[in-house]
Amino acid sequence: MDTCKVLAVETSCDETAIAIVENGKRVLANKVLSQIEIHKVFGGVVPEVASRHHLEGILPLVEEALEEANCTLDEIECIAVTNGPGLVGALLVGVSVAKSLAYGLNKPLVPVNHLAGHIYACFLDNPVEFPLVALIVSGGHTDLIYMDKHLSFEIMGQTRDDAAGEAFDKIARAMGLGYPGGPVVDKRAQKGDASAIGFPRVFLEKGSFDFSFSGLKSAVLNFLHNSEQRQEAINVDDVCASFQQAVVDVLVDKTIECAKFKGVDNVIIAGGVSANSGLRKSIEKRCNEEGLNLFRPSLSLCTDNAAMIATVGYYLYKAGVRADLELNAYASMPLG
Ligand code: KG4
Ligand code: ZN
Repeated sequence: MDTCKVLAVETSCDETAIAIVENGKRVLANKVLSQIEIHKVFGGVVPEVASRHHLEGILPLVEEALEEANCTLDEIECIAVTNGPGLVGALLVGVSVAKSLAYGLNKPLVPVNHLAGHIYACFLDNPVEFPLVALIVSGGHTDLIYMDKHLSFEIMGQTRDDAAGEAFDKIARAMGLGYPGGPVVDKRAQKGDASAIGFPRVFLEKGSFDFSFSGLKSAVLNFLHNSEQRQEAINVDDVCASFQQAVVDVLVDKTIECAKFKGVDNVIIAGGVSANSGLRKSIEKRCNEEGLNLFRPSLSLCTDNAAMIATVGYYLYKAGVRADLELNAYASMPLG
């Protein structure tokens, strides 16, 4: 069988990542150099600091990935790179390295949308079938997407303000739980009572698949502020559990509604927030009740990585998509 090894580069936010994947499926290397500890000090990602660390870490990571995959640059068939959406300075580092590799090795260059990458993380360890509805929940995005075949993306809904992960990060910050907030809130929520505080669920107008989390975020911030003013003790576990349940209820409801609206049998959840234990449990239960097949990436593939970019890169490459050396890093880019 013909083998096609794709080397992928991902630097859209605070993870420097290089992967080598064979035929869009077999992960030979998946190296992620996380900058979380660096940005923790600032309570969030500082774009300029992220770019500098990508620059420092990326070339040794290419070497490590090749070593782990036990392959040489000659064996690589094409270079895939995330060119948006993301932090433009951070993207620029990855795009420059990918362009240099493609030019120096005379190999094709394939541009990949980061969000498509999150969806395709599911394809790495699941027998995903079309048509499907995908919920992408990350630090920067909350999107519902319909796909009837590979590389065909119809955006059904998007957040009108904060992304789900952003809301997790902001309320965690307000409670001094550190950065990134999602994993900590998730852990604390498991010890709390989800019905302790009645935070709002915003469903927007009937039939809309859009999301809005800024009202919920403000409700949590107001609750914290008012409790402080009244000198009432705050049960952090209960706040986390009640907030998380409010987010999960909306995410799950809209995803199931969207799947029904499109008449699909398959549902994907992807992106950093898809690692959330409450979301994973709740969507699994609802999909079972509704007779829908649910596909989730393994936990390590939920957050940013380059294996997911290599997988999309493989399908794009096979479809003949190529970028030239004029390829730019765009802060936002349409899906597809
Ligand atoms: O997909 P990702 O790694 O980067 C972006 O493309 O944004 O997602 C990062 C986001 C952060 O907001 C982080 O707090 C959130 O995913 N996250 C979680 C969990 N793990 C990561 N949110 C809720 N529960 C989790 N277990
Ligand atoms: Zn991401």
